[in-house]
Amino acid sequence: MTARIDMGLDGGGNPVAVDLEELLATRLLVQGNSGSGKSHLLRRLLEGSAGLVQQVVIDPEGDFVSLADAFGHIAVDAADYSLTELGRLALRVREHRASVVLNLEGLEIDGQMRAAAAFLAALFDAPREHWYPVLTVVDEAQLFAPAAAGEVAEDARRTSLAAMTNLMCRGRKRGLAGVIATQRLAKLAKNVAAEASNFLMGRTFLDIDMARAADLLGMERRQADAIRDLARGEFLALGPAITRRPISVRIGEVKTGSRAVSPKLTPLPTAATEDMRDMLFAPSAADELPPPPPPAPTPMADLMRAVATPAPAPVPDMPVLEESEQADVRRAILAEIAGEGAASDGRQALPNIFQDYTVRCRMRGVEPGIDLAKFRASLALARAGIADAAGWDEALTLAASLPEEMLTPFLGIARAARENQPCPSDAQIAALYGTSSLGRAKRMIAHIEEKGLIVARTDLAGKRSVSLPHLGWTTAPAWPDPANPQRPGRTAVRAAERARLL
Ligand SMILES: Nc1ncnc2c1ncn2[C@@H]1O[C@H](COP(=O)(O)OP(=O)(O)O)[C@@H](O)[C@H]1O
Ligand SMILES: [Mg+2]
Repeated sequence: MTARIDMGLDGGGNPVAVDLEELLATRLLVQGNSGSGKSHLLRRLLEGSAGLVQQVVIDPEGDFVSLADAFGHIAVDAADYSLTELGRLALRVREHRASVVLNLEGLEIDGQMRAAAAFLAALFDAPREHWYPVLTVVDEAQLFAPAAAGEVAEDARRTSLAAMTNLMCRGRKRGLAGVIATQRLAKLAKNVAAEASNFLMGRTFLDIDMARAADLLGMERRQADAIRDLARGEFLALGPAITRRPISVRIGEVKTGSRAVSPKLTPLPTAATEDMRDMLFAPSAADELPPPPPPAPTPMADLMRAVATPAPAPVPDMPVLEESEQADVRRAILAEIAGEGAASDGRQALPNIFQDYTVRCRMRGVEPGIDLAKFRASLALARAGIADAAGWDEALTLAASLPEEMLTPFLGIARAARENQPCPSDAQIAALYGTSSLGRAKRMIAHIEEKGLIVARTDLAGKRSVSLPHLGWTTAPAWPDPANPQRPGRTAVRAAERARLL
């Protein structure tokens, strides 16, 4: 027995189904103009097979996040993670056989391509023991496998195209079954389209796309005119998993509620969504240091000696340091604390760090000298690399409206601006923020900008400079991601040219 996914009705009112096992082996390409019903079709397919096979959806528009509620898919907001984290997540998705929607909505096109590439590449590179079948759906596939070099960064285009080529050309052996949808066949890289054996062609207006669709369907170009007249939600279907002769199919309603499990496919794991989430996001062993070894037991002889030793003479008073010397020691302690775990996620709460500070002061024989509120500012200054607090009162007053954790990155930017140094990169700002997520760092910058404390500006070379209008300080321009300097889009250049001409 095979698992058949009911897709809708043909011209004669007979049901049309997709054979899931055949589909896993032969892949599917969906084409149709925007609004022709491609995403609806993909949703019908996903809903119909959700209980039968693991699913991964690369979702540039955030269309499929709603599958999470009805079918327990894990929705992953790509903007919240670094590329490394996304790769690690993809490996776990394969290990735990979790169904996932990778939502790319919050990213610029280059970021979407990089995120999809990192995720797909890691799915592809998963160890052999995790090669279970995964229906891998990519909506708007022309974004990730463009036929021609466009305005996007070259490295993003190359990695994304490579990941899509691997998915469609070499993924099958590894259990990855590609299902891709595109608005325009002519915009999709040929080698990516060529590997699909099943086609669903929806309404298409441009001759060049129609000609390619006709070729794929093995139709006369004249006959292919029918593709122009298709209604929304109506597709011409052909391929071993659907039908051996082209037929038209009207895609049915989308619904909630999964279907019966096929006896032939291996049952999916039964972990609840929350458990699955815990497993996917659990810190990895490499991130965690092993617990310190327990202290070695004191040898009995030493214990006996300690008991026998008479009480020591009283400790003489600590020499009291000059106030300026005390200040030096305090500064050194602050610098130590600031340097510890500066770039790691999940910093300790401020009161704990303050307590640690007072203990260290006492250990070195100096008074702490400041209260918790002062300590907050001093630590933020130290973390931002500012050794001398003099002259920073105004900036600190400005920052009073910011949440605690934004103080350090704000001061780091302010320091660069005050000294007219290059604007810190996204990675440097993320480190000051105590996170490894560039997305989070960028949102934080946007937040500070919304508050009016800073103004960021990107020049035609893609370099960013940040000003503090209240203080009249401005950083020198620098690339936000020096490893991948961004060429500005042609539109931005044109707009700037226009501005110059007017
Ligand atoms: N078979 C269908 N039955 C009912 N509504 C449909 C069908 N196909 C598409 N639609 C509706 O048409 C609109 C556009 O469809 P969509 O799938 O988003 O198109 P595309 O992804 O091709 O741009 C959506 O509102 C969708 O709900
Ligand atoms: Mg769509």
